Amino acid sequence: MDGNGRWAKQQGKYRIFGHQHGVQSVREITEGCAELGVEYLTLYAFSTENWNRPKLEVNALMTLLVKTIRKETKTLMKNNIRLDTIGDRDQLPDDCRAELEEAIETTSGNNRMTLILALSYSSKWDIVNAVKSIARRVKSGELDPENIDEHIISNTLTTGKYPHPDLMIRTSGEHRISNFLLWELAYSEFYFTNVLWPDFRREHLYEAIREYQKRERRFGKTSEQVSNG
Ligand code: FPP
Repeated sequence: MDGNGRWAKQQGKYRIFGHQHGVQSVREITEGCAELGVEYLTLYAFSTENWNRPKLEVNALMTLLVKTIRKETKTLMKNNIRLDTIGDRDQLPDDCRAELEEAIETTSGNNRMTLILALSYSSKWDIVNAVKSIARRVKSGELDPENIDEHIISNTLTTGKYPHPDLMIRTSGEHRISNFLLWELAYSEFYFTNVLWPDFRREHLYEAIREYQKRERRFGKTSEQVSNG
């Protein structure tokens, strides 16, 4: 969800104004995805590296997050959407963590779509923790190093219980992954748009999905192999 700061600057406003407007895009894209039958939507809301932003912006973002979760839990219930997070929840302020944990618990029985917020998340952080956890299992004798495979690594990441993304959308004209789902995006389709996140609406989501539908996902095979099933 990139471009909030630039969007605010274009209006001559503080960066947080852009984040506040970004919430409307979050609502619309979450609803739009649920309507289309998307089963998992992951939003990169706050990276490990974002902690290095000015304290004022970090605090404002955390406050916005608490307010939004509190306000939107009812909408999630109404739309049968389950909430979860990936990332280092322990780094979040107490009120933010408490609000999130309550919303996660309240929505845990919902099954139309899972909305996963990446918060205090970075893929390298996740991979480092997964490696430590696998190393501990090896050290205790529970796991033979020869048996370490892709599945064990995938399942040890914080995304372990979720399928890998089909489509990764990045807004605002940047062409980077920025430490997001490095392992999980191995065969995802990428879509980049110049639209800034606060302007990103259903029509932009539909455009991304139409573009995705034109792609041929070969997963390393030849085009002939894929079309012959
Ligand atoms: C990146 O734009 C955006 C963020 C770091 C924050 C995203 C947060 C929200 C949209 C609001 C709350 C979210 C939820 C899930 C309720 P940027 O600040 O890097 O923009 P710039 O690149 O133009 O400076």
